[in-house]
Amino acid sequence: MVAETRLDARNLIWPLFILPGSGQCQPVESLPGVNRYSIDLLLVQVEKAIRLGISAVALFPVTPLELKTEDGREALNPYNLMCSAASAIRQRFGEEIGVVCDVALDPYTTHGQDGLLIDGRIVNDPTLDVLSQQAVLQAQAGATIIAPSDMMDGRVGAIRSALDAAGLTETLIMSYAAKYASAFYGPFRDAVGSKGNLGAGNKKTYQMSPANSSEAMHEVALDLREGADIVMVKPGLPYLDIVQRVKEHFSVPTAVYQVSGEYAMLIAAAERGWLEREAVILESLLAFRRAGADLILTYFAHDAAELLVQ
Ligand code: PBG
Repeated sequence: MVAETRLDARNLIWPLFILPGSGQCQPVESLPGVNRYSIDLLLVQVEKAIRLGISAVALFPVTPLELKTEDGREALNPYNLMCSAASAIRQRFGEEIGVVCDVALDPYTTHGQDGLLIDGRIVNDPTLDVLSQQAVLQAQAGATIIAPSDMMDGRVGAIRSALDAAGLTETLIMSYAAKYASAFYGPFRDAVGSKGNLGAGNKKTYQMSPANSSEAMHEVALDLREGADIVMVKPGLPYLDIVQRVKEHFSVPTAVYQVSGEYAMLIAAAERGWLEREAVILESLLAFRRAGADLILTYFAHDAAELLVQ
């Protein structure tokens, strides 16, 4: 009766990995319980999400190696996996569920970086142009929310202008505003197959240092000024202080990403019987709500939504 915070399926966004072909369902070894699906089977998962009242799905493509290039040009193929999946979901389900498309080049580059790499360095400004085109193609295919996860400077403004110029004024932008250079992304890079590409490389020149908190406020302020509708903090549990600071200061729709490594930790302990699976899922998600998150991207979305209706 006196609970200050509640968790609802409406707060959840479910990340899903897309495979080429049809009839394909592949488990992700480092994310037990998470599968990658070809589009036909992805639609079955999306239907389950709608039935459970989940707000949106966030799509991530597993690009075949032979389509990866130095410049990641597959990102600009209007019939790539991401665009085809967004369009299939919208055709089948209309506006029953939000479709979040990730904007970044890492699924498409041979070096696994989120931006263009010239002479071993990420080049910020030339990357903006590619990201803007990528976002327009995704929105035209059916994305309702464009989610730039690349962390290039100025990309939210560039993407907003490009969307507006293409008449896509109603497409929302959820920016990965405070995205840290985190070791908790490991299993995700396995899932989309970018780990081998990235090799010994890292993303520290554009993702944030875990030492910083005020810088996150600056990043969020910039993205809001450039036109972000929703801002995100990522990872989640180790960065709850950032979620709380952002929500309290800006009072804007705030999302948090419970990333792959956080999922893997909880599942690994639950598999050994060291943690009680259902209890830790719901407790961790409620903690995000208590810190101030309106939306939570989590690989537990489906399971949590099922627990919530019981
Ligand atoms: C890529 C991207 C990453 C995640 C979402 N989009 C990985 C990265 O930045 O290397 C991580 C999600 C997760 O770990 O669950 N731009």
